[in-house]
Amino acid sequence: MSKFLSNLYSALEPYTPGEQPKDKAYIKLNTNESPFSPSPKVVEAISTEVINDLNLYPDPEVSLLRDALAENFGVNRENIFVGNGSDDVIAFSIMAFCGRGGSLACPDITYGFYPVYAELFGVNLTEVPLRDDFSVKVEDYKSFNCPVIIANPNAPTGLMLSLEEVETLINQNPNRLVIMDEAYMDFGKASAAELTKKYNNLMVIQTFSKSRSLAGLRVGFAVANAEIIRDLETMRFSFNPYNINSITMRAATAAIKDSAYYDNCINKIIDNREYSKAELTKMGFKVLNSKSNFIFASHPEYSAKALYEELKNRGILVRYFSKERIKDFVRITVGSKEQMQAVVNEIKDILKG
Ligand SMILES: Cc1ncc(COP(=O)(O)O)c(C=O)c1O
Repeated sequence: MSKFLSNLYSALEPYTPGEQPKDKAYIKLNTNESPFSPSPKVVEAISTEVINDLNLYPDPEVSLLRDALAENFGVNRENIFVGNGSDDVIAFSIMAFCGRGGSLACPDITYGFYPVYAELFGVNLTEVPLRDDFSVKVEDYKSFNCPVIIANPNAPTGLMLSLEEVETLINQNPNRLVIMDEAYMDFGKASAAELTKKYNNLMVIQTFSKSRSLAGLRVGFAVANAEIIRDLETMRFSFNPYNINSITMRAATAAIKDSAYYDNCINKIIDNREYSKAELTKMGFKVLNSKSNFIFASHPEYSAKALYEELKNRGILVRYFSKERIKDFVRITVGSKEQMQAVVNEIKDILKG
């Protein structure tokens, strides 16, 4: 730490992204990326014409992409906010709706960036324990008047709230904002985006990083009523109005329009997820009922940390979290069928001893 860092940030514990070792070629199942390339339409969209225009600033309204997203969700441009990854959208939301000295509630086991943003923005975070079976119970949020953020499906458990449960959460308090982080919802197919038309205290956040094979592009977005979106725009125009560059806008627009390509990828991932869940269960693992593109599993006799390390030795990266409640689990991203067969075979071999 330099002597110049503000005291405000001296205790900040930054988010730790999944490792990206370069010592050998790994089967990378540790950051919930897609095993599939982006749609060919995305590649086409990054044309020479777009590149030649890079001397100009991008459209600060991000019109093309917001219109394409609006059409996709049956809403208007004024109901769509876009960010540099959904992390950016989450950050703007916490900034806007909690504010310095404000409060936020989320599950105790969830996406690791929420506590980091809370700390960065001076927000008091209450971490509400998941139930013993790792489920989120919406009744546990009833008494909170501050904004609530819930990843649905949750990470790293993969467990999902039903639309009815989400609606119960929204109805608990119409004066409280509910932020549903649906980074993985394309694999769960029960998005609350439609409910944003009915409720003005709901925001739904999604990303292009998982189901749309564009983690490297950095695009996420929110769907909500126009007032909420205007507040987010105020934050964005006060911080970085050009958070979406011209190439990103074109590429993401092409992606959102090619739903046939992505539906096919999503369905393959779901098949591979169910195959992997069944194989791990046969091997004696406790496997949570994931509705996302990753599996959270624990073996009664084999330590999760040792399994993570042994798989890494064998060229397969999975994610291990040392946090007490989940230290017996590994999180395995669902990749291609070949990748999942490889991980299943290696685990079988490891368990044989
Ligand atoms: C629950 C959840 N939300 C948001 C994100 C951020 O995704 P991105 O910033 O790539 O859109 C992630 C990334 O892994 C996540 O797991």
